[in-house]
Parts: sequence; C-alpha cells; structure tokens
Amino acid sequence: MRIDIITLFPEFFESYFEYSILKRAQKNGKAELKIHNLRDYSTNKQKSVDDYQFGGGAGMVICIQPIDDCISKLKAERHYDEIIYLSPDGETLNQQICNTLSTHSNLILLCGHYKGIDQRVREHIITKEISIGDYVLTGGEMAAAILSDTVIRLIPGVISDETSALTDSFQDNLLAPPIYTRPSNYKGWKIPNVLLSGNEKLITEWREQEAIKRTKERRPNLSE
Ligand code: ADE
Repeated sequence: MRIDIITLFPEFFESYFEYSILKRAQKNGKAELKIHNLRDYSTNKQKSVDDYQFGGGAGMVICIQPIDDCISKLKAERHYDEIIYLSPDGETLNQQICNTLSTHSNLILLCGHYKGIDQRVREHIITKEISIGDYVLTGGEMAAAILSDTVIRLIPGVISDETSALTDSFQDNLLAPPIYTRPSNYKGWKIPNVLLSGNEKLITEWREQEAIKRTKERRPNLSE
C-alpha cells in the first residue's frame, strides 16, 4: 500500500514513521509513505498557501490551487482508491473503516490547517472525509498519522503474529480479553487458573466470555 500525505508540516511525520512496526512495514515493502509539502505547490514568492475568507470572518483558509496541483500531479502518476481529508466534520474513524482502507492500494491523506480548506476542494477533489473524534485539533497531521498507523498494521504480513491484528479490541465489535504474563503470582495477585490449565478449548471459551463481559461493562453500545 502507498499512502501520500499532503501537509504544511512535513517534519511532523519524520519521527512518527521512523519507528518499530511502521518502519519495518516500509523496509519490507508492505507500505510506502510519501510526504508532500503543500508549500512546494504555492505559485507566489512568499510560498503562502492560504488567504482571507470571502465574506469576512476570522481565520485563514487554505487555497484550492496548491491542493489541486499537488493532487492532480499524484493522480496523473497512479490511480488512488480514496482521497481523504482529515477533518472534525468527517465520518468518525472506527475499526471497520480501517479494515476497508487496509485493502486499498493507494491513498491520499490531506491535512488541513488554520480555519480549514476551500469548500470546493471538498466538493470536487476529496472522495472521503474522516474525523478521529469529536474534538478539534490544530491540524490534520495527528489524525493522518493515526489513520496511517491503524491501516498499515492491518496489511497482511506487517504484524509478525498474523492473528494478533484480528484479536485486537474492536474486531468483531468486542473489546480484547485480559492478558497476563509471568510471573503467575505477583505479591499474591494471581492470574486466572484456566490460563495455566493447558486446555486450549477452555482457554478460548474463557477469553470469549471475558471479551463479552468487558464489552458489556465498558462499551455496551458496541455489543448492540
Ligand atoms: N483536524 C482537526 N480536528 C480533527 C479531527 N478531530 N479529526 C480529524 N482531523 C482533524
């Protein structure tokens, strides 16, 4: 999968994509992450990409021209499955959306800033708007990083234990069951006996029951 991220703050992504699983995914050729500086597409001397709102009002708006030029260039090179604008007005991200996006080959993620982007970008260029939650960030970079992380880890072969992405919280609309590691008794705090039984069937049943119990207690809306 290739993800092209368009941003005014390319440096933001340097450290994020340079660690652990995301780094390995790029090394193994499972994911290709390309960062584009929107300012490189500005046509004026000051390299500005924003302007005042028509009709007046506080806050600068990112212009359509640099966004259109950047996305048109990318689209001329390959087909994109989705061109996503990260915005608090978008569809709220969940595991189902991540699963679907992980099956795609090429995605563009556009990060907004200031007051936002010219509405015509949203109407004519963007194919999907995604929010990472009901709160407002200063820009879409954090949201683009989160979306890239959740999607890339679902690509087969990215996580070494293939089953672990499938047993995550939220797959099947269930939270993950409790997990333990050694020692089995720490200061008298013991792990459930069933996990020491060696009986795989019993352990699987116990995990399912715990996942259902935890989901009912913590996120009853998920199990509906
Ligand atoms: N940009 C600003 N706030 C955002 C949010 N909640 N989700 C996605 N992009 C954003």
